[in-house]
Amino acid sequence: MTPDGSTAAPTHPTASARTHPNSAVRDVPPTRVVPSLRAEVETGFAKRPRELSPKHLYDARGAELFEQICALPEYYLTRTETALLHAHATAIIEAARPAEIVELGAGSARKTEILLAAAADHAARNQAPLTFWPMDVCVSALDEAAQRLRERFPRIAVKPLAGDHTAGLSHLPARSGARLFVFLGSTLGNFEPAGAQRLLGDIARQMGPDDRLLLGVDTVKDTATLEAAYNDAAGVTAAFNENLINVLNRELDGDLDIAGFRHRAVYNPELQRIESYLDATRAQTGTFAALDASHAFAPGDSIFTEISRKFTPDSLDADLAPAGLVRTADFLADGNRYALHVIARADA
Ligand code: AVJ
Repeated sequence: MTPDGSTAAPTHPTASARTHPNSAVRDVPPTRVVPSLRAEVETGFAKRPRELSPKHLYDARGAELFEQICALPEYYLTRTETALLHAHATAIIEAARPAEIVELGAGSARKTEILLAAAADHAARNQAPLTFWPMDVCVSALDEAAQRLRERFPRIAVKPLAGDHTAGLSHLPARSGARLFVFLGSTLGNFEPAGAQRLLGDIARQMGPDDRLLLGVDTVKDTATLEAAYNDAAGVTAAFNENLINVLNRELDGDLDIAGFRHRAVYNPELQRIESYLDATRAQTGTFAALDASHAFAPGDSIFTEISRKFTPDSLDADLAPAGLVRTADFLADGNRYALHVIARADA
């Protein structure tokens, strides 16, 4: 163990990239060590409420459930962001004039495709080259996206990057021209202010004066709309959150009973965030063989699994400023339901 409680050899996408010898995906080595699930349980389960970071929600089943969430009637985020991209892709590309687009947490890059279409047109008009660097921890998603995008956009050089954008960005490949960093889906909302500022600072340090960041974030709005988005009628979000128990059992050789936990998501108006929990509905003790430890839950004990922060331009500025970043253009959906922001270095 390292002093911060993380393992010296974190589970890292480097390994998965190597197990994909036929893939053209290249690794972005981590700049800093990211705590393993094991380390997170050891520190997070010592707190009350117990807590874990939301990234563990995305195993194969969790990723599938998240795809379903994106299509739910209550979960307006994905479709609103998609509509904003359709409406403003050309303006965004003209503001950024990128030779390269780097997407953090690209996944399937479905929404980015809208932006790429505008960028490809722009590059064609200027007879300029264009590179797309989708970065993600999931190599199979990158391979799939790369194949699809190369077919659709023969003039875009698609160069997938395997890596964890929370592990630092100092080992990104060298640039060939103005870069547009892209971070969509309100994923920034999963980070407390300190974590958000660290990630934004990591991005800022990679940006030149002509580079831009396109950031998609959900906005502060009425509690009913927000809580409905995280408590859908079909129970998909509940299944997504509860699947974390399966992840823990599988990864740490545990025996928690998933039926003894219930999803709860509430809006915290002071902190302007949805807080998601797994509440124990009855007493149970889970043993994790991999940790050589047991954890006893009383009814009502909870695991704090996710924050989904909601932003206003001012609250976003509070995270951008310490990172040395400023907004240069804002694209808001009808009724301010969601926002895309174009961001530059403050000293540019
Ligand atoms: C992908 C992190 C933006 O917080 O809205 C959806 C994940 N959690 N429903 C969000 C999520 C519950 C989502 N992010």
